[in-house]
Amino acid sequence: MLILNNKEEIKKNIDLLKKEKKSVGFVPTMGALHEGHISLLKRAKAENEIAVCSIYVNPLQFNNKEDFNKYPRLLNNDTKLLEDTGCDIVFVPDDSIIKNSSAFSYDLGYLDEIMEGFFRPNHFSGVVYIVKTLFEIVNPDRAYFGQKDYQQLAVIKKMTRDFNFNIEIVSCPTTREKDGLALSSRNARLLTPERLVASKIYKGLNFIKNNIHNKSINELKLWYVKYIENEPLMKVEYVEICDGESLKSISDISESNAIVVCTAIFIGNIRLIDNLKIF
Ligand code: PAJ
Repeated sequence: MLILNNKEEIKKNIDLLKKEKKSVGFVPTMGALHEGHISLLKRAKAENEIAVCSIYVNPLQFNNKEDFNKYPRLLNNDTKLLEDTGCDIVFVPDDSIIKNSSAFSYDLGYLDEIMEGFFRPNHFSGVVYIVKTLFEIVNPDRAYFGQKDYQQLAVIKKMTRDFNFNIEIVSCPTTREKDGLALSSRNARLLTPERLVASKIYKGLNFIKNNIHNKSINELKLWYVKYIENEPLMKVEYVEICDGESLKSISDISESNAIVVCTAIFIGNIRLIDNLKIF
C-alpha cells in the first residue's frame, strides 16, 4: 500500500494506472476510520481494480472550532486498517491542499438552506471545496459515500453534475452498532452514560417509519422530540421528514413516493446525525 502526501505524486501514480486501463474507486474520509468507512472501501475494492482512500480533517467544513480540535486523529491506526482491507493508495494531504479555497464560491441553493446547511453555515461549501479538489487530483471512475450523511450525498451528486465530473457516485448503506447507533468517528467521544442513551436516535427513527401510515407528519415529529428529550442528556436540533430526492420537507406522505427522515441530536456537546429511509 502506497501512502502519499503530495498531490503530484498521486496524480503521477494514478495516470500510470489509467494508462494500464485500471479502474479507480475512491473513498474520501477524515480518518478515525471505523467499520462504516471500511465498508465503503471494501465496496470500492470489489468494484474497481484500484482502491484509493484519502484522509484529511478538513478545517473548511467545521463551523465549530472545538469540534475541529477534538476530532480524533489516528493516522497510524487508520493506515493499518486500510492496509488490512486491501487499500492500494492512501492520500494524506497537508493543509496546502486548501490554500486557494478563499477564491472558490459555489451556490448550492436550497440544499444549503436546510438541515445541515442551515445549522452548520459554510459546512457544505467546505465539503464541496475539498471533495472537488480531491476529485481533480485522484480522478476516479467511482467515488463512494455513505448514506449516513444523506444530505452530503445529495450535495456531492449535485456538485459532480454541475462541474461535469465523469465520476459515478456510489451511495452505500449505513453501518450500525448492534443497538442501532450509526457508526461515527464522534461516537468515541461519548461518555458511558451518553453512549447508553444514544441508541434512542435510531429507535425513534424506526418508530417514525413504523407509524408513518397511522399518524400525521407533524405528530410524528413532535413525538420524536418528546421521546428524545425525555432523556435529559439529549437534545434535538432538528428532525425533518422529507422527499428522498429533493430533500424538501413534506407535510403529508402523499406528497412524495420516496421519504427519508433526517435528524441531528446533541448528546451533551457531541452532535450526531442519522437518517432512515421510510419508503
Ligand atoms: P467522514 O465523516 O470521515 O466520512 C467518510 C465517508 O464515510 C462519508 O461518505 C460518510 O458518509 C461515510 N460514513 C461515515 N459513517 C458511516 C457509517 N456508519 N456507515 C456508512 N458510511 C459511513 O464525510 C466526510 O468524512 C467528509 O465530509 C468528507 C466527504 C471526507 C469531506 O471532507
